[in-house]
Amino acid sequence: MATTTFCTYLFLLSVSLSIFNLSSSSSERDTLLSFKASIVDSKKALSGWSNTSSNHYCNWTGITCSNTPLLSVISINLQSLNLSGDISSSICDLPNLSYLNLADNIFNQPIPLHLSQCGSLETLNLSTNLIWGTIPSQISQFASLRVLDLGRNHIEGNIPESLGSLKNLQVLNMGSNLLSGSVPAVFGNLTKLEVLDLSQNPYLVSEIPEDIGELENLKQLLLQSSSFQGKIPDSLVGLVSLTHLDLSENNLTGGVPQALPSSLKNLVSLDVSQNKLLGPFPSGICKGEGLVNLCLHSNSFNGSIPNSIDECKSLERFQVQNNAFSGDFPAALWSLPKIKLIRVENNRFSGQIPESISGAVQLEQVQLDNNSFAGKIPQGLGLVKSLYRFSASLNRFDGELPPNFCDSPVMSIVNLSHNSLSGQIPALKKCRKLVSLSLADNSLTGEIPSSLAELPVLTYLDLSDNNLTGSIPQGLQNLKLALFNVSFNQLSGKVPYSLISGLPASFLDGNPDLCGPGLPNSCSDDMPRRHIGSITTLVCALISLAFVAGTAIVVGGFILYRRYSKGNRVGVWRSVFFYPLRITEHDLLVGMNEKSSMGNAGFFGRVYVVSLPSGELVAVKKLVNFGNQSSKSLKAEVKTLAKIRHKNVVKILGFCHSDESVFLIYEYLHGGSLGDLISRQNFQLQWVVRLKIAIGVAQGLAYLHKDYVPHLLHRNVKSSNILLDANFEPKLTDFALDRVVGEASFQSILNSEAASSCYIAPENGYSKKATEQLDSYSFGVVLLELVSGRQAEETESSDSVDIVKWVRRKVNIANGVHQVLDPKISNTFHQEMIGALDIALRCTSVVPEKRPSMVEVVRSLQSLESRSCIANLHEPNEEPSPV
Ligand SMILES: *[C@@H]1O[C@H](CO)[C@@H](O)[C@H](O)[C@H]1NC(C)=O
Ligand SMILES: *[C@@H]1O[C@H](CO)[C@@H](O)[C@H](O)[C@H]1NC(C)=O
Ligand SMILES: *[C@@H]1O[C@H](CO)[C@@H](O)[C@H](O)[C@H]1NC(C)=O
Ligand SMILES: *[C@@H]1O[C@H](CO)[C@@H](O)[C@H](O)[C@H]1NC(C)=O
Ligand SMILES: *[C@@H]1O[C@H](CO)[C@@H](O)[C@H](O)[C@H]1NC(C)=O
Ligand SMILES: *[C@@H]1O[C@H](CO)[C@@H](O)[C@H](O)[C@H]1NC(C)=O
Ligand SMILES: *[C@@H]1O[C@H](CO)[C@@H](O)[C@H](O)[C@H]1NC(C)=O
Ligand SMILES: *[C@@H]1O[C@H](CO)[C@@H](O)[C@H](O)[C@H]1NC(C)=O
Ligand SMILES: *[C@@H]1O[C@H](CO)[C@@H](O)[C@H](O)[C@H]1NC(C)=O
Ligand SMILES: *[C@@H]1O[C@H](CO)[C@@H](O)[C@H](O)[C@H]1NC(C)=O
Repeated sequence: MATTTFCTYLFLLSVSLSIFNLSSSSSERDTLLSFKASIVDSKKALSGWSNTSSNHYCNWTGITCSNTPLLSVISINLQSLNLSGDISSSICDLPNLSYLNLADNIFNQPIPLHLSQCGSLETLNLSTNLIWGTIPSQISQFASLRVLDLGRNHIEGNIPESLGSLKNLQVLNMGSNLLSGSVPAVFGNLTKLEVLDLSQNPYLVSEIPEDIGELENLKQLLLQSSSFQGKIPDSLVGLVSLTHLDLSENNLTGGVPQALPSSLKNLVSLDVSQNKLLGPFPSGICKGEGLVNLCLHSNSFNGSIPNSIDECKSLERFQVQNNAFSGDFPAALWSLPKIKLIRVENNRFSGQIPESISGAVQLEQVQLDNNSFAGKIPQGLGLVKSLYRFSASLNRFDGELPPNFCDSPVMSIVNLSHNSLSGQIPALKKCRKLVSLSLADNSLTGEIPSSLAELPVLTYLDLSDNNLTGSIPQGLQNLKLALFNVSFNQLSGKVPYSLISGLPASFLDGNPDLCGPGLPNSCSDDMPRRHIGSITTLVCALISLAFVAGTAIVVGGFILYRRYSKGNRVGVWRSVFFYPLRITEHDLLVGMNEKSSMGNAGFFGRVYVVSLPSGELVAVKKLVNFGNQSSKSLKAEVKTLAKIRHKNVVKILGFCHSDESVFLIYEYLHGGSLGDLISRQNFQLQWVVRLKIAIGVAQGLAYLHKDYVPHLLHRNVKSSNILLDANFEPKLTDFALDRVVGEASFQSILNSEAASSCYIAPENGYSKKATEQLDSYSFGVVLLELVSGRQAEETESSDSVDIVKWVRRKVNIANGVHQVLDPKISNTFHQEMIGALDIALRCTSVVPEKRPSMVEVVRSLQSLESRSCIANLHEPNEEPSPV
């Protein structure tokens, strides 16, 4: 009995062996086909991988074979083909496969550990996919790998100790994931490592492990934008092969180890910017002469820069801005042969810019603002043909501007404001790319050169606070100036009409001899001079006229400044109106009562609807708990907001304030808010309209972020802050209140409510600085509401469900995407809705860097829209975008 069984076993074994032998010569093709079978290939990129193809499989897309001794697949490169589905271990039946690159696809699964069965595999590249889950301790099974790239995925959790057994690794990339915790000391044994990338893992709160210093072959150490803390370990001097060291945007403290720069003789790039480092400029920085990039900015380094910087013959980028450096700036730096970028703003440097700057033939950008540089602006500057930005405000430069200072054919930004320059403004003819010129707050005299009007892209011109005389050149009307400030000079004569109507009058202040409509003086050839007292009436009349005529009114153009005292109880009220509201603070206060209050108090205070004597309605927001801004800076901030002109941003008509509170007066929209609409039981809105709303909101935000100067963040995007007009054109309200209440109060208000709002991006609690990405996140939440038809915060089975979590849970299951889409919308729009859902998911990515900018969002949404053939629902922005 036992013998029979044994024989049967032998027989089976021989059969299977012979099958194996047969197939080993003929089945690589079948292996590839069965690997393909588990892959979803929606772009049909692998259509050539086919059983019927006459093409030899070694010639299939992505396949490379060795040809000794027999043809056999050694490499598969399927990057960027939009592949998804399963990565099947069947691929390991290819005995010689050593290279597998599936990067930049949409594989959505945990790390495929089963690939460790591929006996010859040396390179596994899974970067830029949707790989999720933790790194299991079984990662050690990949012991034969030389290159493991898991960068740009969604891998989370701690780095396991077992990683230390991948002793053959030369490249390990785990950057741009969601790893967390402390990095264990596992690198000491990975002695072959040449590239280690743990960057952009914001939850990796850890010291830099000392044992990294043992990696003598390491060329690149990339730890930027994670949360490394503590000191830079002295042990890093052991990294003798290092060429790239990036420790920027962490939380590192202490100094740069003194021996570090001189030990790392092969260093090409050193970036320790945006930490909390201090101490002197690292010595011996160019011992190896190969340094191209030196970036120390935004730390607390002090002391002076040694003259030995002249050894840095390869240096291209020198960035030490936002530190506490002082002393004479080394002249040698200006003529380093390769230097392109010099940024030293916000330090305490002294010294001059030598004429030898003309030798810096590659120089592109110089920023010296807010130091103590002195002397003349050198003639040599005009000889640097590659220079496109020169910014040296807030220094002590004096003397006359050299006539050629703007002769670089690519020069686009010049800022010499707040210096002591004298003499005339030279006729600028050559810098045809000049976009922005600021010479404010100097002692310039003479006339504004009319040649400025011939600079075709000049958009920002600030000549305020000088001693300029003569009239404003008529030709300036032809420019598309977004800013034209000549206040506080001694200009005279008639102001060109479009400059009055298009720009705030305050930009003309302090020139008693200027005349024109809306100015204290009317020109003698226009109409007889009137008393100052009646001017405001005249202004109002003009504005109303313009209103009636339907002409666009420029907000912020005319400011009426009045005081009103309502007795001791509420103290002194001041108001500034940017529109002819003909209302007193008293009217406002009386109009603001329980009856006129709209709904609940938002984060920052209640909104009231107040009827003006004219019958018009305005919305008044009462800001409680605002910071201790001075009346002057408050006025400046609100003016900044009131000047915004965009069809998707609510206009601010004026404001009143006392010592205790601020009332912002907004235009009133009859359609209510998007939030109101969505919260209705029977919420119904066509997809086309929803998309139009999304695009409008995105355009409004993109405008605030990128086009408006100063750039603003909204910081409180949510559906209840999106108002709709009668045509469902959305308008953002409650924007940039941080500027009104002050950052500290803003943060404390936000934080007190943050726990309950799912519009706020998760990093808000810990990140150092407010970013555009916070707005992208909140926008993503609104877009999820539009796609799903659900309120962001809704109760489901008594638990409050945050829409981001709800959607993510759904889309992680098969067919879940369709469960997310609002069932009230017809299937014909599902493709577009899925497109919008995809954008919303990217916007609500946990990792801020993964979120698209609002400009990209606008583009993506518009491309969805154009697919549905509904063109021209939206016009372009009203303002020219600065270059
Ligand atoms: C990429 O793949 C996804 C999922 O398979 C599919 O929905 C999408 O249309 C594909 N994109 C392109 C450009 O083929
Ligand atoms: C390919 O075709 C052969 C016969 O021509 C067949 O035996 C084999 O199963 C096919 N393979 C696949 C993966 O369809
Ligand atoms: C691959 O294609 C090239 C030319 O298209 C041909 O010369 C070569 O023999 C093919 N290789 C195999 C293994 O069939
Ligand atoms: C491929 O693998 C087979 C089986 O392991 C081996 O006999 C052959 O030499 C390898 N070929 C190459 C080119 O490495
Ligand atoms: C992985 O593939 C991506 C996409 O081609 C590439 O950018 C990256 O450099 C590769 N990783 C390694 C370690 O070669
Ligand atoms: C490094 O290797 C040694 C010897 O092979 C071993 O004892 C030690 O545990 C390893 N360390 C790590 C961190 O893997
Ligand atoms: C930086 O470290 C300090 C303490 O050392 C901590 O309070 C702070 O939250 C950290 N900041 C970040 C962004 O990790
Ligand atoms: C630099 O700052 C340190 C304190 O962080 C101080 O002790 C030292 O004197 C400063 N050096 C110079 C040159 O200002
Ligand atoms: C100028 O630089 C100092 C630090 O040297 C900084 O404190 C100050 O805020 C800067 N001023 C401006 C206007 O940026
Ligand atoms: C402007 O010129 C007047 C005299 O013409 C002089 O008193 C004044 O100080 C000058 N102002 C500036 C800012 O140079």
